[in-house]
Amino acid sequence: LRRGAAAPDLAGRRVVVSAGGTREAIDPVRFLGNHSSGKQGYALARTAAARGADVTLVAANVSLPDPAGVRVVPVGSAVELAEAVEAERRGADAVVMSAAVADFRPVRSVSSKIKKSGTAPEPIALVENPDILAGLVASRDAEAPGQTIVGFAAETDDVVANGRAKLERKGCDLLVVNQVGGGRAFGTEDNQAVVLGADGSATDIPTGPKDDLADRVWDLVVERLA
Ligand code: CTP
Ligand code: CA
Repeated sequence: LRRGAAAPDLAGRRVVVSAGGTREAIDPVRFLGNHSSGKQGYALARTAAARGADVTLVAANVSLPDPAGVRVVPVGSAVELAEAVEAERRGADAVVMSAAVADFRPVRSVSSKIKKSGTAPEPIALVENPDILAGLVASRDAEAPGQTIVGFAAETDDVVANGRAKLERKGCDLLVVNQVGGGRAFGTEDNQAVVLGADGSATDIPTGPKDDLADRVWDLVVERLA
């Protein structure tokens, strides 16, 4: 199926998308990470560019080709992702946090490779990473008034109730909630979601290509930009 030419309804807009999954160093060769492929974030960047937006894609450990016409800022850890997103969000019309951010990082990253010593290894002590999305919301009035801020969440069980609670906790405008478990979402070509709005709205996006889901998310962002 060929996609038709997109309406240029993001022309003159600047958007920031984060994608991929952060890696938190344990030693020079090991990290704590997650299974995010970056495909949904890349689809968001590609579709926004097709709709005329000036797109910055903050990419954490993604092995996908750079989307055409998109500025890519590569990062590794959650702290690096936070710094990049906070710098890029200034003056942007929308920020979409589709990256999977590690909730915790090792307190210390040792500079020498950890070796087997014949005894039980030291436990890895963890510290919480900054909540980037909540930070964007908290600093919005000062840094980017009127900016539309979108979060992502992967939930099990009562997806809508969990998503609604998370939306309220984070304070973002839209939360794209994926149902996970049973091989869904990570690394697959298709995705489905319900998009919850701070205004109480809930928009179901049926299973389909990640570009289609991305376009539906931009539709909801465009409504809020007007
Ligand atoms: N997020 C973030 N910074 C973090 C953790 C998450 O910006 N340190 C963002 C993610 O990019 C995503 C949204 O917050 O857009 C929700 O992530 P999620 O992991 O579902 O939320 P958490 O608050 O970490 O809750 P949970 O305990 O369910 O993991
Ligand atoms: Ca989390």
